[in-house]
Amino acid sequence: MDVILIAAITQDGFIARHSHETVRWSRDLHIFKKQTQGWPVIMGSHTFDCLQKELDSREIYIVHRGDEPEKILEKYKKEKCFVAGGGKINSRFSPYLTHLYLTPHPRVFGRGIRLFADPIEALDLIFDQMIAVEEKKGLFQFQYRVNRDIHHSV
Ligand SMILES: NC(=O)c1ccc[n+]([C@@H]2O[C@H](COP(=O)([O-])OP(=O)(O)OC[C@H]3O[C@@H](n4cnc5c(N)ncnc54)[C@H](OP(=O)(O)O)[C@@H]3O)[C@@H](O)[C@H]2O)c1
Repeated sequence: MDVILIAAITQDGFIARHSHETVRWSRDLHIFKKQTQGWPVIMGSHTFDCLQKELDSREIYIVHRGDEPEKILEKYKKEKCFVAGGGKINSRFSPYLTHLYLTPHPRVFGRGIRLFADPIEALDLIFDQMIAVEEKKGLFQFQYRVNRDIHHSV
């Protein structure tokens, strides 16, 4: 199964200013809705609490601290699922990610919730494709595959 992390990020790698921010600055919600429609969406409890109500209709799994990512993923016998944040959940699911879909926005927060809030093992990414979000404003979603064939050295 493809396990796809999807996020809007700032140029300095943040996904929110704080844990309870509803991400209204993101301009790729329409792409998010289209891509996740019909697929399981996994997210942390903070993210669910901040969710804009229009996303309520899809199959959402809310992760709590006692949950084991492997067991959650085993439940789904689907072609793909999405990991939709926040930073803590992105870190916990990082060993299982097969793809990253990232939309860098023209913002710098300086501080806040990082794409991966807790330290993770390094990931090697292979570029797949780029999708226009708002081409004239320079907004594109970058789609990467995670290369699990290489071993990182310091
Ligand atoms: N820009 C984007 O694309 C994007 C995408 C998604 C989310 N966000 C934003 O990211 C923010 C939320 O991110 P987040 O990292 O704070 O939260 P999160 O990953 O959504 O949820 C927090 C997770 O960490 C667990 N947790 C909390 N405290 C813990 C502790 N002390 N020890 C162990 N586990 C703990 C929670 O479990 P319990 O439920 O058991 O507490 C929950 O599973 C929101 O502002 C959201 O809007 C942005």
